[in-house]
Amino acid sequence: MKGCQIIINIGLLVNTRNENKLLRGAALSELPCIENAFLKIENGRIADYGKMSELPAPTTTENIYDASGGYVSPGWCDSHTHLVFAASRENEFVDKIKGLSYADIAAKGGGILQSAIRLQAMSEDDLFNHAMIRLNEVMRLGTTAIEIKSGYGLSVDAELKMLRVVQRIKNIAPIPIKATFLGAHAYPLLYKNDHEKYIRLIEDEMLPNIAKENLADYIDVFCEQGFFSVDVMKRICSSGILYGLKPKLHVNQLNSIGGIEAAIKMNALSVDHLETMTDSDIEKISSSDTIGTMLPTAAYFLRMQYPPARKLIDKGCAVALASDYNPGSSPSGNMNIVVSMSCIQMRMLPEEAVNAATINAAYAMELEDEVGSIMIGKKANLLFTKKLPSLAYFPYSFGSNLIEKVMINGNFLE
Ligand code: NIG
Ligand code: FE
Repeated sequence: MKGCQIIINIGLLVNTRNENKLLRGAALSELPCIENAFLKIENGRIADYGKMSELPAPTTTENIYDASGGYVSPGWCDSHTHLVFAASRENEFVDKIKGLSYADIAAKGGGILQSAIRLQAMSEDDLFNHAMIRLNEVMRLGTTAIEIKSGYGLSVDAELKMLRVVQRIKNIAPIPIKATFLGAHAYPLLYKNDHEKYIRLIEDEMLPNIAKENLADYIDVFCEQGFFSVDVMKRICSSGILYGLKPKLHVNQLNSIGGIEAAIKMNALSVDHLETMTDSDIEKISSSDTIGTMLPTAAYFLRMQYPPARKLIDKGCAVALASDYNPGSSPSGNMNIVVSMSCIQMRMLPEEAVNAATINAAYAMELEDEVGSIMIGKKANLLFTKKLPSLAYFPYSFGSNLIEKVMINGNFLE
């Protein structure tokens, strides 16, 4: 519905706010909503909202869309994805069914290294076309801002190729996109016996070229046993910081090796995964400004324990939710499932999950001034649901497609 500027008869207008605030503790469960509401859009941005009874008389030049009792919410903000990849890995999925672990598969040369071989062989155009298909799919599922990582290149050329693909997506996609450099995703086979050489490749060749072409917003490292140690993570992040890239890190997925403490000291924007947390990790992150991003579909897909969401929230950690969309550990970018799974498996309240997947996830991409809540001046990047009996019905009825329409910059996706 191009040009539509007033939405009427909104059953529930979700996450209406007058100001931006990163939510933690009890505030995460407060989700301000307006029943039977209207929303006004001007130039693709939210211009006004309120109760239907307060709706100013429309002028003839305004287009009106009747939401017929459906809910309107800020679109999902997916702050952690690996959306650019060359090929799916369902062979490993079957290996895992047969009993192999994530680490076993990586040790066999599968996993990330397999994705790197496939990505190195694919042209930039093909990678771009495949990624755009995925992006269009997740936009239709309600994602209206997204972060995309490199990390399946693992050579100077292929990492730059991946980030150029992300740059092209940034230039063409209608939604805000953030790019993260994850050269330190795995040591390539070529450097199996000389890790120092690969670290120097990241520092001396990848980073300067990325900076020259302005290809990344953040720097990520997969800090994990068998991947990158805490000391190496610190070193790579320090180099990235010199080029203006803020750390946004993979930590505590399989083991707790001190990544959280180091990340906080480097003022990481977020630490992501958090499946394996000690009490001390929980204390440290909860008393820091670093956002804790949980990726429940990755834990589900790998049959791992879920992050301790309740403990984190109750201790005051600012949590966000994201899909981790990637071919190895979360071959889905469906944020509706992420929200549902967070309630079902991590005991997050529906209100907490919605806040964590909208405003807090917007903060985890530094996009809180643009998206993540219904606030005057923010982009009209919204999801419209079918008529729902309650907010809780949305995560409760997992697997049903309750999204009626998605709006981006004030225009409905066709
Ligand atoms: O976030 N954990 C590291 N990286 C990805 C998985 C990558 C892969 O298996 O391809 C993740 O889960
Ligand atoms: Fe990831």
